[in-house]
Amino acid sequence: MRRMRTAPLEFITGLARTYGDITRHQADGDTVYLLNHPDHVRHVLKDNGANYTKENTPDDHMLRPLLGNGLLTSDGEEWARQRRLCAPAFRPSAVRTFDAIITDATHALVDRWRTAAAASTPIAVDHQLTGLTLAVLTRSILGADTEGTGEGFGRAVDAVNRFIGHYVPADDPDPQDTALRRQGFLRARMFLDGITRMIIASRRAGGSAGGGPATLLDTMLGSGRPGVDALSDTDLRDQVLTLVMAGHETTAKSLTWTLYLLDRHPEEAERLRDEVDRVLGGRTPTAADLSRLPLCRRAIQEAMRLYPPVWLISRRAVGPDTIGGYDVAPGTLICVSQWVLHRHPEFWDAPEEFRPDRFADAELPSHLYLPFGGGDRICIGQHFAMAEATLVLAVLMQSLRLALVPGHPVEPEALVTLRPRHGMSMLAVTR
Ligand code: HEM
Repeated sequence: MRRMRTAPLEFITGLARTYGDITRHQADGDTVYLLNHPDHVRHVLKDNGANYTKENTPDDHMLRPLLGNGLLTSDGEEWARQRRLCAPAFRPSAVRTFDAIITDATHALVDRWRTAAAASTPIAVDHQLTGLTLAVLTRSILGADTEGTGEGFGRAVDAVNRFIGHYVPADDPDPQDTALRRQGFLRARMFLDGITRMIIASRRAGGSAGGGPATLLDTMLGSGRPGVDALSDTDLRDQVLTLVMAGHETTAKSLTWTLYLLDRHPEEAERLRDEVDRVLGGRTPTAADLSRLPLCRRAIQEAMRLYPPVWLISRRAVGPDTIGGYDVAPGTLICVSQWVLHRHPEFWDAPEEFRPDRFADAELPSHLYLPFGGGDRICIGQHFAMAEATLVLAVLMQSLRLALVPGHPVEPEALVTLRPRHGMSMLAVTR
């Protein structure tokens, strides 16, 4: 457990490489299976998914105090009902209507980065991208500008992340530090709760404001049949916070790691710049351009292979099962790590290398590449995330060159998401 706490990526990689595609260990009174073969992963997430629950998993313990019973944390019938209600808002055709929200926010970011470029000031790319994806999500989900909500949605989200970000509790936690973080968490939760409920109430009363595209919230408000399965205010509060929390940090991290890898591989960055120049000729991309920017898309996919923003998925077995010839007792905790699976030497050529073209037209074995999970509980926001990341990357590539500050250390840190432990400090040059 000490190694899982201090160096989780090394620990789980060591398990898989030393003991094989199924391993078992004991941790804090739990029997834990780590699955590292796509067939076994498919069995748990899809084929026999009904036997595996999210209830009482580490994710559940971490997220429920904030998110309540939204899509990410609910299970069974309740989950199925919520997924049905939310699904229309996340269809590819629905998320494409937010392209201008995404590119407007990115242009505002580019303006700030150009100022930093002129002064040769390093940019905390990871933080700035988190601000960008938060703004995009709240504008498109809530139709609200969080910059206008006074003291800062962003700061509250940050306090919450600091609290739940401690994925595995420290061996010897500093009680004062824990108490402070807990206080910050409770204050932030109250703030987020109040704002979310206020926005929902005004949205219910006034409908879509400003003549912009219908927001995800509008779509969700309109998707229930009144009196049958419409979402209550508490359902909506849990859902909206779930979407904000699940959707912004993950997308920001995928972009952060993509920019880092492109800086390390200038020849790939050059190909991307050629693509955006050729396809866009200097104009702002729209959703209609997404299919014409395959190199941008593949760079993001490859970055999420090497640095999956969600690096661990867990489930608990409800009834007995057999996986790959091994008995699984009810209550067993099952873990799948994208970090390990995405580097499986049997399935990937040169797994440590950044090669976006591996996504060109290859048919990957099912459940080998899981940045968005798999089975019925696959990420509902995957189309939104890919559209957003591709548009943001295209605008950044056409506007600026970004390079890591010389000597800045880069090391992944596995918290709730996979973050750069020391941040990502980069210098921009205007193109
Ligand atoms: C690059 C960005 C993203 C990544 C890497 C990502 C990753 C994931 C993964 C791995 C899961 C499955 C977790 C599990 O099986 O335990 C998931 C679920 C989920 N994600 Fe995402 N996500 C991203 C973006 C988004 C966005 C933009 C939204 C919403 C706006 C979102 C909302 C959700 C929700 C609600 C679930 C739970 C779905 C369910 O259980 O039915 N995600 N995500």
